[in-house]
Amino acid sequence: MTITSAISVHKLDHYFGSGQLRKQALFDINLEIAAGEIVIMTGPSGSGKTTLLTLIGGLRSAQTGSLNVVGHELCQASEAALVKARRNNGYIFQAHNLHGSLTALENVQMGLEVQGTFTKEDRHRRAADMLKQVGLEERVDYYPADLSGGQKQRVAIARALVSHPKIVLADEPTAALDKKSGRDVVDIMYRLAKEQGCTILLVTHDNRILDIADRIIYMEDGRLSKQPEN
Ligand SMILES: Nc1ncnc2c1ncn2[C@@H]1O[C@H](COP(=O)(O)OP(=O)(O)O)[C@@H](O)[C@H]1O
Ligand SMILES: [Mg+2]
Repeated sequence: MTITSAISVHKLDHYFGSGQLRKQALFDINLEIAAGEIVIMTGPSGSGKTTLLTLIGGLRSAQTGSLNVVGHELCQASEAALVKARRNNGYIFQAHNLHGSLTALENVQMGLEVQGTFTKEDRHRRAADMLKQVGLEERVDYYPADLSGGQKQRVAIARALVSHPKIVLADEPTAALDKKSGRDVVDIMYRLAKEQGCTILLVTHDNRILDIADRIIYMEDGRLSKQPEN
């Protein structure tokens, strides 16, 4: 039987800084995530969750070990290869990272700009459709400042998913939201990901959303385990 891994990490270490300040942040990370799987990563603050997520996303370069994301090896990859790899992913961060000077619709269209393959009309139509899917059809022309936290995060989800990425990386997407908005945001992300068949790796401290995961992994002191150690 062949198992298709969307993400395959082997013996990955990561260090920050150099010389005397060199500090190891990740130790011997091994992780396989199947295509279409939803994996939640939890663990204490400072344990290395964001570091691993950004390495997988090609947002920083991996040094030792191996890191294969949808068939591309990112360890020791060139900057050009990393830029290319980043385009395959959708990102959702704790702070929504929307452009304040752009409307909701324009922000979502940004998610298609990197692809470069769509006409202007096509981008407009796809972005509007995506905003409808996250329940914001009445807010397409609003600027971020005029949206609630939950609405902003829904725009961020629409932007991340409008290009139908194979992989969605979410770093504490509900951390700045109240309970109800957080739940809504995660439910929307879950539904869209299942419809599109994309793989999700989501970092969270939020115990209330763990139920959406196919699998939960735990990071502590730069090491991954399946269960929190008691
Ligand atoms: N850019 C950086 N430079 C130096 N050290 C960093 C950097 N980013 C993170 N670290 C360190 O790496 C460790 C893991 O951080 P991080 O991945 O952000 O943890 P988490 O997301 O689990 O809170 C921490 O000790 C943190 O201080
Ligand atoms: Mg973090």
